[in-house]
Amino acid sequence: MHEFLYVYRLNDKLNNLSLPVTFEYTTHVNNINIGNVSTHLMKTLLLLCRPGFEKECAQEIQQILEIKGINGYVKTRPLSAFVVFESFEANQFLELLKQIKLNELIFARQMFASTGLMGNLPANDRITPLIKQFSSFPVCKDIFIEYPDTNEGKSLSGFCKKFTTPFKMALEKQKILQPDSNTDYRAHLFFLDSANVYPGVSLIDNSSPWPSGIPRLKYSKSAPSRSTLKLDEAWQTFFKKDDQNNYLNRKMTAVDLGASPGGWTWQFTRRFIHVHAIDNGPMQKELMDSGLVTHLKVDGFNYKPPKPVTWMVCDIVESPKKVAKLISQWLCNGWCTYTIFNLKLPMKKRYQEVQLCKSIIIEALNEHDLKYEFHLKHLYHDREEVTGFLKLLNHTVQ
Ligand SMILES: C[S@@+](CC[C@H](N)C(=O)[O-])C[C@H]1O[C@@H](n2cnc3c(N)ncnc32)[C@H](O)[C@@H]1O
Repeated sequence: MHEFLYVYRLNDKLNNLSLPVTFEYTTHVNNINIGNVSTHLMKTLLLLCRPGFEKECAQEIQQILEIKGINGYVKTRPLSAFVVFESFEANQFLELLKQIKLNELIFARQMFASTGLMGNLPANDRITPLIKQFSSFPVCKDIFIEYPDTNEGKSLSGFCKKFTTPFKMALEKQKILQPDSNTDYRAHLFFLDSANVYPGVSLIDNSSPWPSGIPRLKYSKSAPSRSTLKLDEAWQTFFKKDDQNNYLNRKMTAVDLGASPGGWTWQFTRRFIHVHAIDNGPMQKELMDSGLVTHLKVDGFNYKPPKPVTWMVCDIVESPKKVAKLISQWLCNGWCTYTIFNLKLPMKKRYQEVQLCKSIIIEALNEHDLKYEFHLKHLYHDREEVTGFLKLLNHTVQ
């Protein structure tokens, strides 16, 4: 039931990744001398993603680990909503968790190190074998009980909820879970069904603060569209809560390209930030009544702000390369300091397209000698798109 369909070795050429690699997974592992591997050694990295994006998530981790010279193989199954990396060198993922930054991964929502899949948990006592496994883990401050973002996974939500309290209590009793400690670690249990689970740990600062990487955001009825949640999640993902006021305050100004009906604009106006909303389409009436929005019915690709603004956001549905060039133009001309934008993904070669757009922007910024912070993420509220955040450094905030 939990067989993996695609198994990629790390040295398989990225271009060939659309094809499953044909080799005997077990034979291959048997050929590798990994010494005396105790079941408590962490050699598995779990990455959770949106169902349908396993291939992109696998390609990305594969490329990153290859650059770092880590040997192993990636396993995944279409529509499973997770990817597993198995290292040939045991126990390194606690160390690797410090080197692989979740915020540098585009397609992974959550990341933790694991000792591997524990199968056949006895239905009458799942806790005892799990506690035994966790006893060799570092002390943890918290625990996330997670499951894949699939219909099958969601059917586990009741089971996971019921399991949480007794398991937490058992972990606390064994002093594996110490909520008041200074530990950097969080415990994870990722259930595939009630008998199969990946136990593991993450670094709190290098993992999603939300179980399974899924934020539960409240949709306000006064927001003009559900797209508003995308910008809300982007802000919560790309900067810390304590920093919100530095990034968003009423002294700032914003441009929203492709603004209609106003879900993204609304996120600014509720923070009393004035917005130039660029779109031929109509803006929600209540939003216009706020007096904080100037609506201009012009083409977002030709619009030039009369003076620099703090924020430019762009949700225009267009070719991702065209949007990448537009973002570069705004930053290289100093028209904005911060930007959030969506890159709509093509049907095929999604990973390659995102990498291409990333390099278009980076090359332009480097040519202009600009210092920047740049993140791309496939957010929970994104479907066939990824969201970018770019911030110019050493730049006076307008
Ligand atoms: C996905 S919708 C934006 C939704 C909006 N962010 C919200 O939260 O309500 C994309 C918008 O881009 C606009 N659009 C498409 N091409 C455009 C262009 N060249 N210039 C400006 N807007 C454009 C469309 O009219 C459409 O309203």
